[in-house]
Amino acid sequence: MLVSATEMLKKAKAGHYAVGQFNINNLEWTKSILATAQELNSPVILGVSEGAGKYMTGYKTVAAMVKAMIEEMNITVPVALHLDHGSYEGCYKCIKAGFSSIMFDGSHYPIEENVEKTRELVKVAHAMGLSIEAEVGSIGGEEDGVVGAGECADPNECKAIADLGIDFLAAGIGNIHGKYPDNWQGLSFETLAAIQEKTGEMPLVLHGGTGIPADMIKKAIDLGVAKINVNTECQLSFAAATREYIEAGKDQQGKGFDPRKLLAPGAAAIKETVKEKMELFGSVGKA
Ligand code: 13P
Repeated sequence: MLVSATEMLKKAKAGHYAVGQFNINNLEWTKSILATAQELNSPVILGVSEGAGKYMTGYKTVAAMVKAMIEEMNITVPVALHLDHGSYEGCYKCIKAGFSSIMFDGSHYPIEENVEKTRELVKVAHAMGLSIEAEVGSIGGEEDGVVGAGECADPNECKAIADLGIDFLAAGIGNIHGKYPDNWQGLSFETLAAIQEKTGEMPLVLHGGTGIPADMIKKAIDLGVAKINVNTECQLSFAAATREYIEAGKDQQGKGFDPRKLLAPGAAAIKETVKEKMELFGSVGKA
């Protein structure tokens, strides 16, 4: 069932668990994530970066694929189709294409401009029944060309953005997209606690979910995180399983080169990663 992410994240925040956002790249990714959510009776958010949207030939293709797969696979758990780190123009394109949720990442603008653009997009998204995420304080590292310095968000700026009526808030707390470097200082729980204090009931979003240790994830959920984004970890498990298949020469045995066989171990690996995360985040059985 395609829905906005508002209700599932309100429930998650109140119930002290988090819903996973898993980024998609193609049909295999989407199928693996949807099948796992259904098997585990978990709500789920499918994240689409602007780069991945372009790769899949555009947002209309993505929305049509996801809607058709929900129907053909008899997916009854709540599924949100969400633009990840959207630009101002990207948000409008996804609203038009039939997404159920958008993220406007105005973290690189001066705060006044971020507030102004977010305010406008909140009105438009809500009028069309979509949920909207906004960001304060950039997430470190790089994801599909979106580069961030990784600073900690200012809790007062978080409150200013939260007060605009957004549905969930991404705030930088020392988190980074991609693998964490060996000298990573960890999440700033002090910042997270201060943000939660200022923003109250607002579900908070933790980007850069790949490689954050389980105890930090649990503590972040205790401090108000209700949505956790995972992208790189599915890519790594897909790549490792595919490499193992090819290195074992399986693509050269019988019809092992058939894409449905060649991509199967990678798809199974994505399912395993998504399952692990849903169990860790506590969303299993919460559909
Ligand atoms: P990772 O790639 O580090 O898991 O981050 C995902 C993310 O935050 C998507 O916005």
